[in-house]
Amino acid sequence: MTLDRIVIHVERQIKLIEPVVGDEELSLIREVLESGYMTEGPKAREFEKSFAELVGAKHAIVTTSCSTALQLSVDILGVGPGDEVIVPDFTYPVTADVARLRGARAVLVDVDESTYNIDPDEVRKGITDKTVGIVPVSLFGHPLDMAPLREIAQEHDLFILEDAACSTGARFNDEKTGSMADLTCFSFHPRKVITTGEGGMLTTDDDELAEKAREMKRFGMRMVDGRSLFMTVGTNYKLSDVLAAIGVKQLEKIDRIIERRRELAAVYDSLLTDVVLLKKPAVDNRVYHTYQTYAAFVIKDGVRDRLIKDMGEKGIETQIGTYSLHIQPSFSDETRIGDLVHSTKLFENLLALPMSQSMTEDDQEMVVREAIGLLESY
Ligand SMILES: Cc1ncc(COP(=O)(O)O)c(C=O)c1O
Repeated sequence: MTLDRIVIHVERQIKLIEPVVGDEELSLIREVLESGYMTEGPKAREFEKSFAELVGAKHAIVTTSCSTALQLSVDILGVGPGDEVIVPDFTYPVTADVARLRGARAVLVDVDESTYNIDPDEVRKGITDKTVGIVPVSLFGHPLDMAPLREIAQEHDLFILEDAACSTGARFNDEKTGSMADLTCFSFHPRKVITTGEGGMLTTDDDELAEKAREMKRFGMRMVDGRSLFMTVGTNYKLSDVLAAIGVKQLEKIDRIIERRRELAAVYDSLLTDVVLLKKPAVDNRVYHTYQTYAAFVIKDGVRDRLIKDMGEKGIETQIGTYSLHIQPSFSDETRIGDLVHSTKLFENLLALPMSQSMTEDDQEMVVREAIGLLESY
């Protein structure tokens, strides 16, 4: 292969995602470095304040990742051995692992085949006298319909801990993701809507839970009359101000980032309108979807992984949707409700298309053309 060909290949590479970061973030990082205050401090407070306003929650508590925000939530809720939590089978494993790490059992239930989110009828089937809570997921930027879950939670006195790792900025009707559940956790991993490299946020309207979370993430410490008192068992999930500074700037441009993602999704939607082999994702018309992932459904069975590989060789990065937990070895002993058929099918057939902000319509057309061409050839 000549050097020219290598250069052409690299230039045409279409990435799954491109974090929207630049000079604004750099200048605020510089400010933090020059201040000499590099642990969690004023920038983290600013990030939390703006985030709470964005999602309409009373409290926002920053953490090192969505996983640690979820862990903190489970810990302040007191989940432990003998407890059961209901989780969707179609999600990233950590949604369930935070409770499992504390000795609780995960009860895996199926998801809706069109929104990919937890099916409330399946949640009902999973409730026992050991159930303490539901950990639903607003997957890929499509927010949950919280009303039926709230009804179930009220009936059975359960908490709702929402995993909204992918759904910063989403809305269901007028309700914002982050203000609908007892506790909601977000991710700022680079593949998410906004990023701090690694980072997470916990939101809640509950003063008591917020105070517990703030203490526990900071070694269990409370300041009383200017002195540090260690009130509870604690840990360290503080986010450095170096990263929080990135978050502050990301929040200033979040509307633009999401609108761009929605534009990209609208183009894919129109390109896939009459396509038989690749089905565009369905959207509940009551939601404002952030399209953290644009996951299309491959109609032919057994070819999705080959398609990802072959697209990759053409310089187009695609991905699976997410995981079906009951298929993973680590989940072999957890409780399953029903045959989890939707979760299995979505795990095997979903294809996440590139959503880089700098893609042109021609790039998107090329992505769809290549995918269809390959699918037809299998
Ligand atoms: C649904 C879901 N929850 C939680 C996480 C974990 O987020 P983090 O990487 O911020 O810990 C992910 C990561 O992809 C996810 O997709």
